[in-house]
Amino acid sequence: MSTVLYPGSFDPFHLGHLDVVEQAVELFGAVVVAVMHNPDKPSGEMTAERRIDAARLACAHLPTVTVEAFGGLAVDAARSVGAACIVKGLRTPGDFEVEQQMAHTNFAVAGVRTVYVPCAPAHSHVSSRFIRDIARHGGDVSSMVPAAVAEMIARGAHR
Ligand code: PNS
Repeated sequence: MSTVLYPGSFDPFHLGHLDVVEQAVELFGAVVVAVMHNPDKPSGEMTAERRIDAARLACAHLPTVTVEAFGGLAVDAARSVGAACIVKGLRTPGDFEVEQQMAHTNFAVAGVRTVYVPCAPAHSHVSSRFIRDIARHGGDVSSMVPAAVAEMIARGAHR
């Protein structure tokens, strides 16, 4: 069994993220979900604390998964938890373009490898950006997030 790091902004943690975590548990054994800051996404909705709460609730049924906040670089977070590699999920060809550049950069600067897992087709349309938009306008996001996260959002407890 090895440990892998799954970094992301998780604003909020959705069913596509959960699918990636479950696949990574199956493939590697233990997963550290790293709640991080994406400088390209400054207009997030949830504080880091609420994003952690949501991810922990969503992964509560997975005993080898931990959720932690990290500042700085994903490669440093990976090293600090002794991760064998970084894991990322791919939904679309657009994801691949972004992720491949990050994976090559993370390997070039720190020798940390990235393994991609394909997101289940049922969740390929799910995106945190759209969930935030729908939730902001009072829409129903329950088909796109784990039940515990839907409940947080419905109560306004995600802010
Ligand atoms: O869920 P996201 O927003 O696509 O996740 C992006 C994230 C947080 C994984 C990425 O922005 C990241 O790795 N941030 C940490 C800073 C870092 O390592 N930057 C160098 C990237 S090559």
